[in-house]
Formats: sequence, structure tokens, C-alpha cells
Amino acid sequence: MLFRTVCTLFALALGAASGIAHADDEAQRARGREILFQSGCHDCHTPGFAANGGEAPEAAWLVGDQLGWNGPWGTTYPTNLRLRLNDMSRAQWLAFAKAMKARPPMPYWALNRMSDADLGAIWLAVRALGKAGTPAPAALPPGVSPQGPVVRFPPPPQVVKAAR
Ligand code: HEC
Repeated sequence: MLFRTVCTLFALALGAASGIAHADDEAQRARGREILFQSGCHDCHTPGFAANGGEAPEAAWLVGDQLGWNGPWGTTYPTNLRLRLNDMSRAQWLAFAKAMKARPPMPYWALNRMSDADLGAIWLAVRALGKAGTPAPAALPPGVSPQGPVVRFPPPPQVVKAAR
């Protein structure tokens, strides 16, 4: 009898704990979705998003883009994050995001500075969306003409470092 009571209490505690964990994941996922909007990830990684005033069907979220960004670095294409993040564990994503560098116009410094909690939330949100789309076209080196449409950047102004 006592054994059964203990078992029941244990099962109840486990159930409650997994309920809490589930609610917490849900909140983190919602937060991740919000960060993806607020920090501009959709602007480049979701096709048509910026041009349509921040609107895109969820099916197209973060699938990367065929629209290239062309400048002195060559031509880059926003990565398909639905494929990229779904191939990484949470720990791999955190390590990658904190250390990553990329060519323009990817604002990698924004990712480098995010907290574990924010990066983890992004990871949960993109995992929940699942894999979709195809990989973005490979980047082209300077001097190679892109075939499809591109946004062209003029050469950047010389950065003048303040004398100390
Ligand atoms: C202004 C456009 C732009 C914005 C805004 C942007 N990205 Fe990117 N991102 C790119 C481009 C272009 C690349 C490809 C760069 C390259 O090929 O070197 C890229 C690459 C990446 C990569 C590298 C993937 C890999 O496999 O190397 C990750 C991860 C990434 N972006 C995540 C994000 C996240 C998360 C946000 C929001 C915080 C974001 N990006 C915002 C344009 C953008």
C-alpha cells in the first residue's frame, strides 16, 4: 500500500515536472520566434519578407534566398536556416553562433553577442518549424557575374579609425 502510494506520488511529481518543462519549452519557442523578427533574421533569410513589409507565410520562413548580395566580397546568398539549424544540436548551434564570421551583409556580430538563452530560443523555434526548402546557391567569388537577381553594394567607404 505504502509502496503504491509512493509510486503514485512519484509518477505525479514526474508528470508535473515534465509539464513544467513542456511549458518552459513552449515559452522559449515563442521567444525565439519573436527574436527572429526583432533581430531582422527574416529580412534576408525569408524570401520576399522585407519587400512585402514583413509578411511571409510560415512555410517560407528562413528557407534562404535566391536573391544575391553583390559587392567587393563577391555574391552571397542568405543561407537556408531551416536546413542548417536542424542539422545541429543545441550545443553545436551555440558554439557556432558565438564564433561565426560570414561575408556581408550577414550581421554575424549580432549572433556573436547573443546570450545562450536567446540563441537557445532561436534554435528551438527553428527546430519547431522543421526542415524545408533547398540549400541557397553557393556564394560566388569577386569578379564572377551572378546569373540571377542581386542587390548591388558600392565599395564601402574607407573606415577611419579614431586616433587614440
Ligand atoms: C542583411 C541580410 C542578413 C540578415 C539581416 C541576417 N542574415 Fe544571416 N546571412 C546572410 C547572408 C548573405 C549569409 C551568407 C554569408 C556568406 O555566404 O558568407 C548569411 C549567413 C548566415 C549564417 C551562416 C550559415 C552557415 O552555414 O555558415 C547563419 C547561421 C545566419 N546567417 C543566421 C542569421 C540569423 C540568426 C539572423 C538574425 C539574427 C541573420 N542571419 C540575419 C544575410 C543576412
